[in-house]
Amino acid sequence: MQKAWWQGKVAYQIYPRSFKDSNGDGIGDLRGIIEKLPYIASLGVEILYLNPIFASPGADNGYDISDYRKINPQFGTLADLDELIARAKERGISIILDMVLSYTSCEHELFKRALSGRKAPERDFYYFVRGSNGRTPDNLRSFFGGSVWERVPGEDDLYYLHYFTKEQPELNWYNEQLRQRMSDLINWWLDRGIAGFRLDAIMNVVKDRTFPGLPPDELGDGSCAAARMNAKLAAQAPSLHQELKKHSYGPRGAFTVAEAFGLNDTILDQFIGDEGCFSTVFDFTARETIEKNRPGYYAYPKGTLKIYRDGNFHMQQLTSPLGLVAPILENHDEPRAVSFYLDEGQQNAQGARALGTVFMFLRGIPFIYQGQELGLTNTRFDSIGEIDDVQSKNEYRNALAHGFSKEQALAILNVHSRDHARTPLPWDDSPHAGFTTGRPWLKLHQDAQSLNVAAQEQDPGSVLNYYRALVALRKRGAWQECFCSGDFIPGPTADDHVMHYLRKGTGKCAEIVGNFSTKERVFELSGEGRILLCSIPEARVEGRRLTLGATGAAVVEILPGRSA
Ligand code: GLC
Ligand code: CA
Repeated sequence: MQKAWWQGKVAYQIYPRSFKDSNGDGIGDLRGIIEKLPYIASLGVEILYLNPIFASPGADNGYDISDYRKINPQFGTLADLDELIARAKERGISIILDMVLSYTSCEHELFKRALSGRKAPERDFYYFVRGSNGRTPDNLRSFFGGSVWERVPGEDDLYYLHYFTKEQPELNWYNEQLRQRMSDLINWWLDRGIAGFRLDAIMNVVKDRTFPGLPPDELGDGSCAAARMNAKLAAQAPSLHQELKKHSYGPRGAFTVAEAFGLNDTILDQFIGDEGCFSTVFDFTARETIEKNRPGYYAYPKGTLKIYRDGNFHMQQLTSPLGLVAPILENHDEPRAVSFYLDEGQQNAQGARALGTVFMFLRGIPFIYQGQELGLTNTRFDSIGEIDDVQSKNEYRNALAHGFSKEQALAILNVHSRDHARTPLPWDDSPHAGFTTGRPWLKLHQDAQSLNVAAQEQDPGSVLNYYRALVALRKRGAWQECFCSGDFIPGPTADDHVMHYLRKGTGKCAEIVGNFSTKERVFELSGEGRILLCSIPEARVEGRRLTLGATGAAVVEILPGRSA
């Protein structure tokens, strides 16, 4: 693999709406991010991924974009973004934007023109399809519930396609003129100094344009999740994305990370590595295990360490010969990892440190999500009125429709809602945790007064300071290359409460061991070692044995020439 500028780096994801509000309107913004650049730099991260900041009516919190060259005034101006790019660069941080190219907002100029008449050339940029006798063209179900088809007002039996809300019409990637426009757009942003993109929902762009539908799935209403169609057509996705790479980010050396669900071993080699469409892809294997063949939140199990471990081990081994994956613990679409993957007694700072350790040394480009470095847990939502997320609201209705009581439906959201990740970041113990001087757009975490950045800055043993040590170790000298692209070797997996693996490369070798059981444990190492970093004081190595207390993790260097 050729070495690119982004290799060896650690990335940080910001949900701008909830990061820091600079002007008191209750909504985080670009000037808030600029203000907090010293904090971001202090983490040691060098790639900053921002969720969508483009002009948007807000049907899905900015993922419904009406103008891809304008900044949503709630977040600021293009001048603010230019300043952020420049100031971040001074600190060695590159900015990547969330590029949403599989659909637009229905308020986008192109869609408005497409709607305006059958002969409009823009009509072929989207999918307008006839149904028959009042029936939609097929039975696919949107990711947020209901049909993927929406009636075109004033026309008989004519529908347009949307995989998310009805305000997000799908773009027709088979139209060459449209693909040309996308390349131009990407190049426009690269010219502005953007270093790359997170590419949204990339498996959705492939369509069977005969719209045959699929056999009904487990929901039991005759519909079938659109995701199943993506899975069926997955092999056709790379060719569409290769073209975009060829005309835009490829020649420019931009960093690209794809949101790709439903990856499998037969297509992965076309997505990553030197010849792949993208620099890397997020590892969603654990999430996919949770969702697999289940119609909604009400049927999802809670996560476990085993699910997290097995998902990552699978993807680490699958991607190792091909390229780099992007491991995550959480993002803006998932609950907080400490609450989700850990057992009840471990959903605290100690658990956060241990989980952070086994995450940070996975192979690839790790992405830390804002607040993860504080060990934030899920927020307690006391009523459905406190929830903003469109998907969560739909899942609430879904649960009621399947016989759950209101209390039960709310309890389900308290485990699975996307809003857990979206509550404002707590900065200090001032009103609204220093996030805003106004009224926050979403409720704050119940512990924000004590669990915040300022408090953790003061405490050498805080999760925050521990994350700084994790990132620093990951980038230290020859370890950087070892941890980014060295070999990944899974350890024993018999115990569901242990995550143990080995990393090897550039003359270095380390074992990462997490003990998520309730007892002290002894682990056999592959050689004599010494501890580089551990999340609890109760950790010691004697010869080839590591003794590790409960809910603790350690990074052990296996000394050269002393391995078995
Ligand atoms: C992507 C985003 C998610 C959004 C969806 C549809 O999956 O990550 O937040 O809801 O696209 O817009
Ligand atoms: Ca604001």
